[in-house]
Amino acid sequence: MIRLLFIGDIMGSAGRKAVAGSLESLVDTERVDFVVANVENAAGGFGITAGVLEELERYQVDVFTTGNHVWDKKEGVPLLDAHPALLRPANYPDGNPGRGWCVEETAAGVPVAVVNLQGQAMMPPINNAFHTADAVLEEIREQRPDVRIILVDMHAEATSEKQGMGFFLDGRVTAVLGTHTHVPTADERILPNGTAFQTDVGMTGPYESVIGMKPKKVLERFLYNTPRPFEPAKRDLQLRGALIDADESTGTATAIRRVKVEVG
Ligand SMILES: [Fe+2]
Ligand SMILES: [Fe+2]
Repeated sequence: MIRLLFIGDIMGSAGRKAVAGSLESLVDTERVDFVVANVENAAGGFGITAGVLEELERYQVDVFTTGNHVWDKKEGVPLLDAHPALLRPANYPDGNPGRGWCVEETAAGVPVAVVNLQGQAMMPPINNAFHTADAVLEEIREQRPDVRIILVDMHAEATSEKQGMGFFLDGRVTAVLGTHTHVPTADERILPNGTAFQTDVGMTGPYESVIGMKPKKVLERFLYNTPRPFEPAKRDLQLRGALIDADESTGTATAIRRVKVEVG
C-alpha cells in the first residue's frame, strides 16, 4: 500500500504558514509516502517565486502542480523549465515553458507520475484537457512503463468538467483531484473502476476570506463593479487536501479521505 497526500491551492504567506504548521506531523501520523501540492497562488496569492518554492521544498513536498495563476509572477515563469518537479497544466499550447507531467520516487523507490491539466469551461482559452490527458497517458506508458501510480490535478472551474475527467480517466489513473475553486467538496469517492476522485480538495490558506482574499476588498468589487485591488487574508489558517491509499502493484486506489487541519 502506498499513501499519497494531495494539498489544494496554497494561498499566499498564510497558506505557506498553514503548511509549515501542519505538514510534518501530518506526514508522520498518517505515514504519508508522497506529497503533491498545488502552488499556483503560493506567492502573495498570484503565481510563484524561487524563494517560495524553496520554502515549500523544505516542508517535504515532492511535486508541485499549478494552474492559470502560474504565469502571474514574471520571475516565476522561468522556474517552469528549470525545476523538474514543478508542473503547469499540460494542455497549454506547445511553445510555452515547462512541462505538464513528471515522475518522482517515494523514499522506498516507488515511481509516482503526476499530471497537471486545466479545464476549458469559464477559464482562459486552452487546449482540450481530455484529448491532452489521452496523449499524456500514452507518453507515460512509452517513456515510463514502470509507473503504476498516476495522480492527476484537474484544475478547473466547472464541477461537471472535473467530474467528467474523473470518469474519463477512471481505471486508467490512481486519482483525479480537482483544484482552482478554493472550496472543498464533500464528494470524495472511489469511482467504479478504481480511481479516487474529489471534485475540489479546497484551498490551503486563510478561511476567514472570500476564496483567500480579504472579504472587504472582494465586496468592493461586487458593490461598485470597478477594479479594486485584492489583498490576501491572514486568519483561520487551514490545510485542506486529500489522502489517497493505493495498491502500488496495480495503481488502483483503495481509499480516499478528505483532510482538514486547523492551524490557527
Ligand atoms: Fe487557485
Ligand atoms: Fe486557478
